[in-house]
Amino acid sequence: MAKYNIEQDVKKVLITEEQIKSAVKRIADEITRDHADSDRELLLVCILKGSLPFTSDLMKEIRIPCILDFMKVSSYGSETISTGQVKIKYDLSYETLENYDVVVVEDIIDTGHTLSNLLVHLKSRNAHSVKLCALVDKPDRRQIDVKVDYCGYTIPDEFVIGYGLDYDEKYRNLPYIGVLKEEVYLNK
Ligand code: IMP
Ligand code: MG
Repeated sequence: MAKYNIEQDVKKVLITEEQIKSAVKRIADEITRDHADSDRELLLVCILKGSLPFTSDLMKEIRIPCILDFMKVSSYGSETISTGQVKIKYDLSYETLENYDVVVVEDIIDTGHTLSNLLVHLKSRNAHSVKLCALVDKPDRRQIDVKVDYCGYTIPDEFVIGYGLDYDEKYRNLPYIGVLKEEVYLNK
């Protein structure tokens, strides 16, 4: 028997496909407007794995040239609570970022540890500018103050899944963002 039933494990849909689409378009327009006059190249950094669907949809709505790269980071802790430690598992293919305006594309900001660590890392490579973009923000959970330049939706403190976001690596393929039923992780 399958351990997970991805549709039935959703307590409620929080952000529909249509709402995601309109947030993606709005953020892409803001990124386009903010970088249209820059002499540098726009570099989108997709944070694997959760930001894959968001980055994919976002880049198609950006109306100026941009290039794409990937990073993978891991934070240690239990599956629903992140800790302060962040480790780079896969790094950018660029050594120095002097000629780039970097936009970090994240699925969700929770405690802020992941992004604040990434920011230090990218700034140490002398990026011309670094901006942060997140589809979902959970400000109630913040432990470190990070400035989010582009934000899709602010949500309450609930564990969400779908559109790239996972629990135990599952549910990333749901096309919307929903709240996971507590019993899924409490009965583990
Ligand atoms: P932070 O370092 O606490 O800001 O955590 C960011 C990372 O934690 C995200 O990139 C996600 O991988 C994970 N995360 C935080 N909250 C959620 C959630 O509600 N659902 C799924 N993953 C989450
Ligand atoms: Mg995750």
